[in-house]
Amino acid sequence: MTDTLPGAAIPNPLDEAAINAAVEDAVAAIAAASSLDELKAVRLAHTGEKSPLSLANREIGGLAKEHKAAAGKLMGSSRGRVNQALAARTQVLEAENDARILIEETVDVTAAPRRRRAGARHPLSTLQDRVSDIFVGMGWEIAEGPEVESEWFNFDALNFKPDHPAREMQDTFFVEPPEAHLLMRTHTSPVQVRSMLEREVPIYVLCPGKVFRTDELDATHTPVFHQFEGLAIDKDLSMADLRGTLEHFARQMFGDEASIRLRPNYFPFTEPSAELDIWHPGAKGGPRWIEWGGCGMVNPNVLRAAGIDPDVYSGFAFGMGIERTLMFRNEVGDMRDMIEGDVRFSEHFGMEI
Ligand code: DAH
Repeated sequence: MTDTLPGAAIPNPLDEAAINAAVEDAVAAIAAASSLDELKAVRLAHTGEKSPLSLANREIGGLAKEHKAAAGKLMGSSRGRVNQALAARTQVLEAENDARILIEETVDVTAAPRRRRAGARHPLSTLQDRVSDIFVGMGWEIAEGPEVESEWFNFDALNFKPDHPAREMQDTFFVEPPEAHLLMRTHTSPVQVRSMLEREVPIYVLCPGKVFRTDELDATHTPVFHQFEGLAIDKDLSMADLRGTLEHFARQMFGDEASIRLRPNYFPFTEPSAELDIWHPGAKGGPRWIEWGGCGMVNPNVLRAAGIDPDVYSGFAFGMGIERTLMFRNEVGDMRDMIEGDVRFSEHFGMEI
């Protein structure tokens, strides 16, 4: 027994009315698509693999020979109508889309610009760079060290004896636990020792950086400030080399009329040591001497602590505060202005890059 009646084994030619209806449907949907995205969905539904027209097309293969040509023609023209409608609609929608984008992306060249306020580098940074540049210009290198420092580098290696009152001279932030013997470095001088241990002689380094002391913030003190430290180690260096270097530096910073003067002083890490004054030709209220920093010939004990033979090599060192330099160089009356982060303070110095 079979379901198929005799003669029904040959499928009927395609149903022309149904196919025309499918074409009408497709054409109506295409006309209704109001965007390229919608049209894409319509294209899939009406011409995709599972669309009525594709399914009908697939049946051609199973038709009796004599029906194939007519069915093929019918399907060809039907699909042609749909594709034509699709192409025409695509063109219209693309044109609409282009026009919309042109309008949306119009740039009004007459509109007033929205100004963003430009920042400015902090004057302490630009001053630090300027100092570094002067020394780099003399062939020196820039050296750095950690801000959390070991007590040995900050004091012992610099010839501060354990019970030396000089240790108390600087009010130190110690870092817990005490057994670790760590502190926030109180000066940039420990970088001298690090440089001597890390580098080969001769050494000519400038070490700028942040230092910390337990000072209250006021017009002339801040617990976090900056210094730069200079260190030169070579054969036959003398106080004359120190003087010449500092004088050149002072002139680069303050003009050709600047000069320096050294007054005897004491620092454990230099011997002899001196206080460095600068003759500041452009000082507020007229030219005058201003205390600038400390300097001296590196103490032989410090050279020895860093493994350098003091009978063969000698060295000089100096250290100055950057905030203090900025204060008298640019007439800043209150150190607090330097740390408040108000861009108006920085702008006042201009955009030095
Ligand atoms: N470290 C000293 C301080 O912070 C400054 C100083 C003095 C540095 C004499 C030196 C120096 O290199 O030779 O007060």
